Amino acid sequence: MERTLGIIKPDAVSKGYAGKILAIIEENGFNIVGLKKIRLTKEKAEGFYYVHKDKPFFNSLTDFMSEGPIIVMVLEKENAIADWRKLMGATNPENAEEGTLRKMFAENIERNAVHGSDSPESAKYEISYFFNALELV
Ligand code: PPS
Repeated sequence: MERTLGIIKPDAVSKGYAGKILAIIEENGFNIVGLKKIRLTKEKAEGFYYVHKDKPFFNSLTDFMSEGPIIVMVLEKENAIADWRKLMGATNPENAEEGTLRKMFAENIERNAVHGSDSPESAKYEISYFFNALELV
């Protein structure tokens, strides 16, 4: 079994898509072992996305991620990291395949509804950024 960190981003939460996205996650065989609704400060968003700190979109991305509540989740299944990224679809919804969450719910490359860890190393960092062991069941 593998675990990954998923986020339902502020655009999707504010539009009321969280329930639909959670249902799709469960229908696709993920076990939700941790879940909470939080609001990031700008500083906490910068810490989460520190690997992108030199990218031109860093300031805009961290403004967006701190503009309203998000739902952070730890998702577990075999091959969870790759399977969650497949279910999310391409970063830019214009390139996302039919049936993916970003095709269904994303606005653009920044306001793209969901996030997922991209490697075992980033999953470990990202899960521990939001959850301690007692919060994962
Ligand atoms: S990269 O450059 O390949 O590492 O970037 P990528 O993995 O595609 O995207 C990393 C996150 O940055 C967001 N992103 C952007 N935001 C605003 N403007 C632009 N142009 C842009 N490009 C990428 C993207 O939504 C990714 O967010 P997460 O939460 O990691 O999915």
